[in-house]
Amino acid sequence: MPEALVTLSLRVNGDDVRVAVRPSQTLLEVLRVGLELTGTKQGCDKGDCGACTVLLDGEPVLACLTLAVTCEGRVVQTVESLTREDPLVDAFDCHGAGQCGFCTPGMLMTAKGLLAKHGRPSRETIKQAISGNLCRCTGYGPIVEAIAAAGEGRRGKKDEEPLPAPLPSWEAPKP
Ligand code: FES
Ligand code: FES
Repeated sequence: MPEALVTLSLRVNGDDVRVAVRPSQTLLEVLRVGLELTGTKQGCDKGDCGACTVLLDGEPVLACLTLAVTCEGRVVQTVESLTREDPLVDAFDCHGAGQCGFCTPGMLMTAKGLLAKHGRPSRETIKQAISGNLCRCTGYGPIVEAIAAAGEGRRGKKDEEPLPAPLPSWEAPKP
């Protein structure tokens, strides 16, 4: 017998939304299919990869392991809420912290939750925070540095590199 639908009300990226869900549906399915917010990625779908991380009432959660019905009245923030101007997004860009980009939405939302709690987290704290987010591309170093830079209010590598020396003025060769 098909499951009866339940109407779910929640706040997603600042908008109040109402969506009909099956009691067995995960938050990930509702975000990606019901609300067409496909920035949140579906990797393993069993809690191993962290690609589906979103903020629920400000805390990073795995959307693939969160039943949508448990989110009634709660506040969800997905990667779509981050603009290009967000210091964390900018730092990821400056540090080359994304390659294929599949892990990036989950990394960003985990980092967002971390920075909201610890303004300037240590490298060790950052590593612990992202330990549930798998990346097959970057080797993690640029990701850790990007999060540290955002926490310290630095843009990223481009900020730290000295400006190139001015070009010598050009003079026409003497005849
Ligand atoms: S898709 Fe949720 S942890 Fe992998
Ligand atoms: S950038 Fe490819 S999985 Fe992380």
